Amino acid sequence: MTSSTPSTPAAKAAQKDPWDLPDVSGLVVGVLGGTGDQGRGLAYRLAKAGQKVIIGSRAADRAQEAADGIGHGVEGADNADCARRSDIVIIAVPWDGHAKTLESLREELVGKLVVDCVNPLGFDKKGAYALKPEEGSAAEQAAALLPDSRVAAAFHHLSAVLLQDTSLEEIDTDVMVLGEERADVEIVQALAGRIPGMRGVFAGRLRNAHQVESLVANLISVNRRYKAHAGLRVTDI
Ligand SMILES: NC(=O)c1ccc[n+]([C@@H]2O[C@H](COP(=O)([O-])OP(=O)(O)OC[C@H]3O[C@@H](n4cnc5c(N)ncnc54)[C@H](OP(=O)(O)O)[C@@H]3O)[C@@H](O)[C@H]2O)c1
Repeated sequence: MTSSTPSTPAAKAAQKDPWDLPDVSGLVVGVLGGTGDQGRGLAYRLAKAGQKVIIGSRAADRAQEAADGIGHGVEGADNADCARRSDIVIIAVPWDGHAKTLESLREELVGKLVVDCVNPLGFDKKGAYALKPEEGSAAEQAAALLPDSRVAAAFHHLSAVLLQDTSLEEIDTDVMVLGEERADVEIVQALAGRIPGMRGVFAGRLRNAHQVESLVANLISVNRRYKAHAGLRVTDI
């Protein structure tokens, strides 16, 4: 083979750098269920990094109250208005309300990049365990319910306690990002990367979201044993 053969390392070098991510600084991020711990934590970190963030709630006044508590230009709105006004919409409602919330916002979410961070978990006296959604995962349920949206999944393994801790400047963790379209995955990777200490890593298509969502049950076990707020790092990349 000569160096001009397409399968040589020289030809590979022409591929796009996997860490050459798009500029997402101008995109508006909405957080549905943003009045909860995870939503408020993500809203705080993203807004602090300079992102325009709108917190969504079933009640606009609750959203406004949460937004006022965060500052950094965060706004509050009811979930529908939040979805309508955002480019990227993070779903941060409990698994119990997941399907109903998405079904009711199908129209507002058309064409949006929807980022699901919902972990379907059960709890009993032995601790947390993974539930098995009929569609395979929360993310696949979202994709099934929102055929006209661009669904990705990310932010499952973050500790809401650390996200909300204003004494911490950095969050030391990787964020596994799943999705079907490379361009959408890269937008979410770039969004995660705006938060100091955080790195977004492509982790497969939505059919592999179940393992990522379920892993939170293991992290909860780690946290209980070691009194920690554990995150994840993917090595050798
Ligand atoms: N907490 C964490 O550390 C963490 C980390 C990673 C991922 N997650 C995932 O993020 C999601 C949110 O977690 P969280 O701890 O923030 O939950 P949460 O506080 O229980 O709920 C978040 C918000 O969702 C809204 N909500 C509650 N029940 C609802 C329902 N039946 N239908 C629609 N909306 C409802 C509420 O807002 P309004 O009443 O204002 O509408 C609530 O403030 C979960 O799916 C979780 O698996 C959490």
